[in-house]
Amino acid sequence: MEKVKRILVLTGGGDCPGLNAVIRGIAKRARKEKNWEVYGSIEAFNGVLNEPQEIIRLTSSRTKGIHVKGGTILKTTNKANPVKFPIYHPDGTTTFTDRSDELVKKLKALKFDAVINIGGDGSQKISKALFDKGIPIIGVPKTIDNDLSATDVTFGFQTAVQIATDSFDKLVTTAESHHRVMIMEVMGRDAGWIALHTAIAGGAEICLIPEIPYDIHKLVKRLELRYKKGKGFANIVIAEGAMPKKGTITSSAGDKGSEHVRLGGVAYQLSKQLKDAGCKAEIRETVLGHVQRGGTPVAFDRVLATLFGVKAFELIKEKKFGRMVAFQNNEITSVPLEDATRECSFVKKDSYLVQAAKGLSISFGD
Ligand code: F6P
Repeated sequence: MEKVKRILVLTGGGDCPGLNAVIRGIAKRARKEKNWEVYGSIEAFNGVLNEPQEIIRLTSSRTKGIHVKGGTILKTTNKANPVKFPIYHPDGTTTFTDRSDELVKKLKALKFDAVINIGGDGSQKISKALFDKGIPIIGVPKTIDNDLSATDVTFGFQTAVQIATDSFDKLVTTAESHHRVMIMEVMGRDAGWIALHTAIAGGAEICLIPEIPYDIHKLVKRLELRYKKGKGFANIVIAEGAMPKKGTITSSAGDKGSEHVRLGGVAYQLSKQLKDAGCKAEIRETVLGHVQRGGTPVAFDRVLATLFGVKAFELIKEKKFGRMVAFQNNEITSVPLEDATRECSFVKKDSYLVQAAKGLSISFGD
């Protein structure tokens, strides 16, 4: 009898439509082989670090049909980086400690033959750190922001753009009825991919993204063009990380234990800046927030996520550890983990996408 081999799967960082499709892809592909068992760690690596441990077997009854479901059946957190683990003190302060050696020891004691870490930039940095400490690990990229440079696209992005575009379309009709300016804020901490795609898909007048700081006076001028004799309407898409050329946007402090500053609310700040700069039109603001991360993934994301899961298993079978699954030039492939997180994928000002948007009279305020 061949020895049974065991894989541990986990999801880390913010959730994203398609995570369950990856989990199912791994489990289904592994089930095709006789001697593989797939397990899941609950809430990223907390399932391994916590006592008692929370590790479940990913049986067919647990993974059946989950590809259509949003969220992650394994739960997730962005406050459990084993390399920088938060410790909450009674006086309300938080300090961080490195628990990676403890994690490696526990993973080795559990005798897993391989680990699959599904997560974004931060999670893949953790994958690299664990690989360097001898853990046979594979990364699967995830982010609705689509800002990982090692893969042309990540699952969850198309779903987020679809949700944003559907919402944008609704805001257009109400903007038109009331002669208003509608500002819709979408996610995009460092990169404006969701905003840019939504602006083109929806037909926005203005698109503001982190990569192109805006001049508020140029925006007011662009809006004036839309209002003849006081009548008209306009729709703006702004990414949560967008910035004016002059002045700043204030963001709230991060959640306890999170390494990130919490964004959200630039739509309201932009609204005030427009008024202060002389915009006469009535303005309303919509912050889409986590709606973009919820619900069922669109077909494209289901396919991509499922293929990523299948590929992750195949890399393990071939013992090609220390790699992250990727989608490049229309092919499912993989890259070394050190290349996976080297740089962020930003929207380039001189890219065809931006130039085409400008050709459609979408203003970036630059
Ligand atoms: O990184 C993905 C992302 O969607 C960012 O665009 C956003 O700033 C962040 O997640 C919000 O995450 P959370 O509210 O879950 O901390």
